[in-house]
Amino acid sequence: MTKNHASLAIDPYYEGVPAYMTEVYDWAYVDPKWVRALDHIWVVRILLFLNDQRLMRAYLNEIKPGMRVWQLAHVYGDLVTRAAQKVGPTGSFHLTDVTPIQIEHGHRKLDSMDWTKVIRSDAADFDGVKSVDYDLICSFFLLHEVPDEKKYEIVNNMLEKLPKGSKAVFVDYHNPAKWQPIRYILKLVNHYLEPFAEALWNNELCSYATNAERFTWRKKTFFGGVYQCVVVEHKD
Ligand SMILES: C[S@@+](CC[C@H](N)C(=O)[O-])C[C@H]1O[C@@H](n2cnc3c(N)ncnc32)[C@H](O)[C@@H]1O
Repeated sequence: MTKNHASLAIDPYYEGVPAYMTEVYDWAYVDPKWVRALDHIWVVRILLFLNDQRLMRAYLNEIKPGMRVWQLAHVYGDLVTRAAQKVGPTGSFHLTDVTPIQIEHGHRKLDSMDWTKVIRSDAADFDGVKSVDYDLICSFFLLHEVPDEKKYEIVNNMLEKLPKGSKAVFVDYHNPAKWQPIRYILKLVNHYLEPFAEALWNNELCSYATNAERFTWRKKTFFGGVYQCVVVEHKD
């Protein structure tokens, strides 16, 4: 059913949420009823065709205890809890998200760990937390969900906040090999449900960075090219 725009304007779960989230992903990430039902690891497992653990490891293996980590958006299931536990009490783990219900879920998972903060912010505008220089900044399956203009803004904001010697990690979709049958399933999914995802099939992640040449971009692909993990560091 189409939502009434006047009532959305005063609904606290919709206040300040970007248009692409309510227009494209309302049931998946914004409507509290659906989000409560979907916030489970088995949902992520199905969405990622059982590749969830190795894709999460690609990020989690980069975390060392005591690091200062910024994760750009909440992810269903136990990823944020595992990342925060790995950081541990000698480090800091900051989770941002743009959607109120996702912030609630982030608090529920992280508030018992006092080295964590859950902050409502658009990843493209997040200005960091005073006096914290991040060792690791991670975008886990966020870029394919946002319009192209926002992809540029998010990537550039991440790289602006990235100190020398630190790493940015992107885990997301990629252009699957022609022999990979999942390619054709995803074509349909993208057509009907994920209008911004196929840009990542056609563009390398570095093409969203204004100063890409100042960084090294190490890419690894998974599952016949369906997914990628790209680790980015300053050249010197
Ligand atoms: C990380 S992505 C998808 C991850 C994965 N598919 C899952 O199972 O959760 C979903 C999250 O991105 C958030 N999000 C979307 N646009 C955002 C933005 N511009 N800044 C921060 N968070 C954003 C949504 O609110 C949602 O919580």
